[in-house]
Amino acid sequence: MAPRLEGKNISVTFGDIFRKVEAVKNVDVSLEPGQTIGIVGESGSGKSTLARVLAGIQVPTSGQVTYEGKNIWQGKTSYPGEMRRKVQMVFQDPYGSLNPRMRAVNAVAEAVTFHQKVVGNDAKQIAFDLLDRMGLSQKDAQKLPRALSGGQRQRVSVARALSANPEVLIADEPTSAIDQSAQSQLLSLFSELIADGLSIILVSHDLGVIRYLTDRVYVMESGNFVEAGDTAQIFSNPQMEYTQKLISSIPGHITKNR
Ligand SMILES: Nc1ncnc2c1ncn2[C@@H]1O[C@H](COP(=O)(O)OP(=O)(O)O)[C@@H](O)[C@H]1O
Ligand SMILES: [Mg+2]
Repeated sequence: MAPRLEGKNISVTFGDIFRKVEAVKNVDVSLEPGQTIGIVGESGSGKSTLARVLAGIQVPTSGQVTYEGKNIWQGKTSYPGEMRRKVQMVFQDPYGSLNPRMRAVNAVAEAVTFHQKVVGNDAKQIAFDLLDRMGLSQKDAQKLPRALSGGQRQRVSVARALSANPEVLIADEPTSAIDQSAQSQLLSLFSELIADGLSIILVSHDLGVIRYLTDRVYVMESGNFVEAGDTAQIFSNPQMEYTQKLISSIPGHITKNR
C-alpha cells in the first residue's frame, strides 16, 4: 500500500541568478496512516519550506508529492477535488491567518460551510462543538481574535483545519508563539487527535514537543536530512553531532558525557 503522504526527491531553490538559496535539497519523506512524524532543525534549515511543499502551498523546484500514490498537483492546482480536504495545514502565527473582524465561531463556521457544505445555524452549531472540543467555551467562541489568548487563537486555527475532517494535519511550529500552559493544552489536544487516527506532520525546533508526540523524526540541516529514524532511538542514541546539539539544547535535558 502507498504511504498516506509521500515526498520524493524534493528540492526547493529560491532566488534569482545572482543569489540562490537552496532551501530544500533532495529529500524523501513518507507518512504512513496513523503515524506522527516530526521535522526538526535549527532556524533556516528548510522545515517550513518543506512543510509548505507537502501541504501543496509551495511548488517544489523538483521532485514530487503524492497522496495515497496520486500526484497532489494537477496543473496549477494542488489537492484537487475531494483530495483537498484531506490535508490541512496550521501555521505558526494564527493571528495572521484569522480575520480580525470575525468572531471565532464564525471563522470556524465559515470553514465548516466550505468543507462540509453545511450552512447557517447548522454550520454554527458544528463550529461551537468543534471549539468546545478544542477547549473553548461558548463565551470565548463568540470573541474576536484580539480578545483571545495566543493559545486560544491557535486552537481556533486547529478547529478550522479539523472542520475539513482531514486525514493529515501539517502543523508548523504550532507551540512556538504561545505560553507554557497553552502549549501543554495544545499537546494534549494533539495526543487526542493522534489517538483518533489523524496522521500528523509536526514541524518544530522544540525537541521536547517532538519527543512527546512523534513516532519518527527527520533531522534537517541546511536543506538536507542529516538523520532520520524512530523518535525514541534518535533521542536515546543520536548519531550526528548536529542532532546531539539540538537534543542537548532541550531545557532540562541532561546529556551523557562520552
Ligand atoms: N519565499 C522565500 N524567498 C526566498 N528565500 C526563502 C523564502 N522562504 C524561505 N527562504 C529561505 O530558505 C531557507 C529555509 O527557510 P525556512 O524553510 O523558512 O526554514 P525554517 O522553517 O527551518 O526556519 C532560509 O534560508 C530562508 O531564508
Ligand atoms: Mg519555519
